[in-house]
Amino acid sequence: MAQLWGGRFTKETDQLVYNFNASISFDQKFLQQDIEGSIAHVIMLAKQGILKKEEKDAILKGLTGIREDVEAGKLAITEEYEDIHSFVEANLIERIGDAGKKLHTGRSRNDQVALDMRLYIRLEVLQTDGLLKELLTTLLKMMEDNTETYMPGFTHLQKAQPVTLAHHAGAYFEMFKRDRSRLKDIFYRMNYCPLGAGALAGTTYPLDRNYTASLLGFEGPTLNSMDSVSDRDYVIEFLAALSTIMMHLSRFCEEIIIWNSNEYRFVEIDDAYSTGSSIMPQKKNPDIAELVRGKTGRVYGALMSMLTTMKGIPLAYNKDMQEDKELTFDAIDTAKGCLALFEGMVRTMKFNRDVMEKSAMAGFTNATDAADYLVGKGVPFRDAHGIIGRLVLYCIDKNCSIEDLSIEELKEISPVFEEDVYGAVSLKTCVEKRLTIGAPGPKAMQEVIRMHREYLSKDWQDEDDMFGGRLNETLYREDIKK
Ligand code: ARG
Repeated sequence: MAQLWGGRFTKETDQLVYNFNASISFDQKFLQQDIEGSIAHVIMLAKQGILKKEEKDAILKGLTGIREDVEAGKLAITEEYEDIHSFVEANLIERIGDAGKKLHTGRSRNDQVALDMRLYIRLEVLQTDGLLKELLTTLLKMMEDNTETYMPGFTHLQKAQPVTLAHHAGAYFEMFKRDRSRLKDIFYRMNYCPLGAGALAGTTYPLDRNYTASLLGFEGPTLNSMDSVSDRDYVIEFLAALSTIMMHLSRFCEEIIIWNSNEYRFVEIDDAYSTGSSIMPQKKNPDIAELVRGKTGRVYGALMSMLTTMKGIPLAYNKDMQEDKELTFDAIDTAKGCLALFEGMVRTMKFNRDVMEKSAMAGFTNATDAADYLVGKGVPFRDAHGIIGRLVLYCIDKNCSIEDLSIEELKEISPVFEEDVYGAVSLKTCVEKRLTIGAPGPKAMQEVIRMHREYLSKDWQDEDDMFGGRLNETLYREDIKK
């Protein structure tokens, strides 16, 4: 048992207690963050005259050595340490001796773990955003290629009006675009540095918290030390954003499963993204889409768990908060995995355009347009609705579509019908006439596609004021090189 405390204890920790309390099995994910944070802390301590230059240099050498050795597989992170912070500190002392004992000056594990978590989440927010951008790029391509691929639009999963595949994909483009903007908001809101908050009440050392914050690429230091060590609202926000992403992915998956079914045959999922059956040789199943849909529950679970963990904790740090890690890590890995797989699945999926178009023509998807045709001839809409309703009933009886009826049959139902009705209710006209922005008409779609191209050509992660998420190279690397 390697612990950072023990002076005031007269007995060894019970082994079960030790195991129950330890977090090394999961917080070892923080190795990079813990070392980056310590490096920045030590550089700041030396600048403030709290550590001597030689001490700083020795500690930095020790810390980077630990990182290199773990990465090279020469040093193992084992269960003998309580957590990643203890692992790093104990190894540092072993390497460089007494100077290592000064690393924790003016710091508590409470602000240390708060920093590690922020650094970790900040990076994951940026990576998730990158995956969303890749998915949007794929969806934009799908839109560009399919402005004239007709398909039925549904309400209540009943055929409603014709749309295009570009329009359908465009709906998801909007959703995932908003998901990205949520991540951007979270990034800017969370990008403040908690280091220097100490256990809860700051420290008596003359720390330069602005400096530490700038070294680590934060906008500035957090402004209340108790809040700094005791809130994880940014984790909750991120889990909420991931839950929303999963909800969007899951809906799309549900549609793909339906489209891929033997009855629909709108799409064929690529062999590389399908699975077979152990007993039924003919089967090709959409397991990936089903798994993404299924894993959505797991990500929601992490959000509910985190909200519940946090709801009754008095200020400031309490050990309950150690529970912020496992489910959060799992939710992040799950959502990122789903995003990457989903993108590959839709990129390689084949659309059966003929089947989609045939389906769009059947099921009276042009009934609204037929009513609008009558309105154009001076019939009030409510009456037109009734006439077309009767027409549909007649067609159901005859097992045909509106456009299959002769002009005589049409005139019998309403004398207003003329030859031009056939053009007015054709699939092409139904879609093309929908030309206001946001509608599936090709003109409106081209305009939206142009806006999406423009949106994807710029990236908020490249914006000048987004120095966060990146360590301050000039201030930082210079010290490290020594
Ligand atoms: N493993 C702890 C956590 O994840 C680190 C902070 C420990 N602080 C403390 N006062 N025991 O929250």
